[in-house]
Amino acid sequence: MTLWGGRFSTKLNDQAWDLNTSLPVDQRMALQDVDGSLAWADAIHKAGILSDEEHEQIARGLVAVRVEFASGQFSFVPSDEDIHTAVERRLGELIGAAAGKLHTGRSRNDQVATDFRLWMLQVIPQLDSAFINLQSALVEQAELAGETLMPGYTHLQRAQPILLSHWWLSHFHPLQRDRQRLVDLTKRVSVLPLGCGALAGTPVPVDRSVLAVALNFAEPSPNSLDAVSDRDFAAEFLFCATLTGVHLSKLAEQIVLYTSAEFGFFELSDAYSTGSSLMPQKKNPDVFELTRGKAGTLLGLLTGLLATLKGLPSTYDKDLQEDKAPVFAAADTLLMMLPILAGALRTITAKPERMRNAIDSFMMATDLADYLVGKGIPFRETHAIAGKAVRLAGEKKLGLEEISLEAYQVLSPAFEADVYQVFDPLESVKRRNAIGGTSPKAVAMQIAECKSQNSK
Ligand code: ARG
Repeated sequence: MTLWGGRFSTKLNDQAWDLNTSLPVDQRMALQDVDGSLAWADAIHKAGILSDEEHEQIARGLVAVRVEFASGQFSFVPSDEDIHTAVERRLGELIGAAAGKLHTGRSRNDQVATDFRLWMLQVIPQLDSAFINLQSALVEQAELAGETLMPGYTHLQRAQPILLSHWWLSHFHPLQRDRQRLVDLTKRVSVLPLGCGALAGTPVPVDRSVLAVALNFAEPSPNSLDAVSDRDFAAEFLFCATLTGVHLSKLAEQIVLYTSAEFGFFELSDAYSTGSSLMPQKKNPDVFELTRGKAGTLLGLLTGLLATLKGLPSTYDKDLQEDKAPVFAAADTLLMMLPILAGALRTITAKPERMRNAIDSFMMATDLADYLVGKGIPFRETHAIAGKAVRLAGEKKLGLEEISLEAYQVLSPAFEADVYQVFDPLESVKRRNAIGGTSPKAVAMQIAECKSQNSK
């Protein structure tokens, strides 16, 4: 039985039924649907719609339905159009006629929006824990790296030496912002649509503020027309997920690059790499490539929902039923990827020698310019002088450290014998000691800060 058969003479066409039914997707909100119904039953009991006995029956019945869902015992029947219908149908089977009073003053429009928000409110903390776990893996690697040096790149061209630990932590902070975004989103998810009816509000004199507290929402929605159609929280969630996807993709892209033979900066553990069916020697970074790939899929989910929302008139439209699948898919994707990445990063091996060998003296050309600044020459001039040194070295096929002091002094009389000290990459790194820099001291402070953020 559908919840709306009264005015129809024939049943819905089978294929139209398949199109219309949302049970395959929204059954994931079963527990939220029951919880929302329990709170609604309390509210309409207080408002005088349910007698004490009816209320007691409904509450007992709903708890039984909840147990069935929680234990995997619940059986759907073919006529269950959506999760709301299924719960009400089962309640009727368990307690009889009183079940028919539960839907008084309520619509599936305010109900589904409530269930969806309840679902999101429980998934955000799960995601937060998964973020924290991945962040700890990054911090562990940063600590393990000690004073290991690696080349830092801009434009994917060798730029300046950095600490490997600094690089690891550069992937911590985007995830921290992702966590903050989800916490901030929680405020907007925590607005209760229940009690808005189909669109115009409920005629039952329920206290929606009490209802909001009962369901752990911060406040009731202020406008019923907006409340039944507001899916901003779903779009925002997908944006958050997509941006996380972009962050993970950036990390993944670097791991893919750095595990190639050409770089050889890292080696993946066998548990997180895959082979080739044809080439026996291959060890492929599929986990990281898929991470990169999922970012594209997540973006598709976001644009898909925004396209659905665009152009809808005010209040509930059935198009909105398309809202849950992308959000569930995005949450599932992140809840799968975050722990896998944590595992893959915890077991990755750094190759400090390969990293060190990829640092050449040209990466200290900025230090060379800074050296002359130390001798009182303005940076604009020293930049040009260091540039000439680079050109000279290129012409002579030498490293900057191989150019003779005499040749340096032709470029500027300010050069002295101590110039060769600037080509020590560890010293170069140590000089970048201001907050946020790559010096061992600054990075140690950063590690401490990350650890304390991570434990909040
Ligand atoms: N399955 C619907 C959805 O997910 C529930 C609301 C249906 N409301 C309605 N008036 N048909 O959006």
